Amino acid sequence: MSHTTAPIGVLDSGIGGFSVVKQVQKLLPEEDILYFGDGAHIPYGNHSEETIAAMARYMFGFMEERKVKALLVACNTISCVLDRCGDTVSCPVFGAVQAGAAAAARLEVAQVGVISTVFTHNSRVYPRKIQALSPRKVVVLSCGCPDLARLVEHSLGDPAGMAQVEENLRQELDHMVLEDKVDCCVLGCTHYPLVADSIQRLYPGLPLIDPAVEMARSLKACLDREGLNNPRTGPGALTIYTTGDVAEYALRARQVGLERVAAVEFYPPMEIR
Ligand code: DGL
Repeated sequence: MSHTTAPIGVLDSGIGGFSVVKQVQKLLPEEDILYFGDGAHIPYGNHSEETIAAMARYMFGFMEERKVKALLVACNTISCVLDRCGDTVSCPVFGAVQAGAAAAARLEVAQVGVISTVFTHNSRVYPRKIQALSPRKVVVLSCGCPDLARLVEHSLGDPAGMAQVEENLRQELDHMVLEDKVDCCVLGCTHYPLVADSIQRLYPGLPLIDPAVEMARSLKACLDREGLNNPRTGPGALTIYTTGDVAEYALRARQVGLERVAAVEFYPPMEIR
């Protein structure tokens, strides 16, 4: 049985899930958060479904061993294969795609744009879910970006890297925003909200949907409903594990503005044959 003082688990292929941690820290500051970023294997978006599901199960196992009371799958790509790994944990699980699609379906718009990894794009999960959830007829245009997540992962705070991010954003988004004129854009990869300022500067006035906001709200509603809120009055701590570079993760956490980072630790990666 889940305990109120157990941490909230958050996982991603890299630092993208920091955008989700940010929203959880804002809405539920008293909760402890346990983060896992699979830095050794990023980007997930160019892998096969089989490999993504196997790597996800490895991280889910880590979270189950540490008895998290809820798990946020802060990776849209993994969220597309949730039915292949969700049964690895016994706590409630929240997917990024499910949250992003629900938020988009509530908007009164005719054309929704989605930018994501290539895997998420090819899966067509976003268009299917948005159209199934929307009460009105809505066109969903989707664009898969092969390099963007990797560029964001390693470019924060570096002017040359950020120039590359912006060039890549223009390459991927110009057509959808300027020609097709979508009414809004779902940031369908958790890395993208980390460069939302750049997207906003390139396309002023384009409404952006960050699934993390909806994920944090759903999590709060679940904890309230199940009586699982941490009873402490002070703020909780964030512990980060990565299969990648510990120093880089500590730096990125600071750059993103995450609070109360108690530790950043290395964890051995899964071996991919
Ligand atoms: N941040 C992840 C997502 O939301 C994946 C990026 C990647 O590893 O390709 O899809």
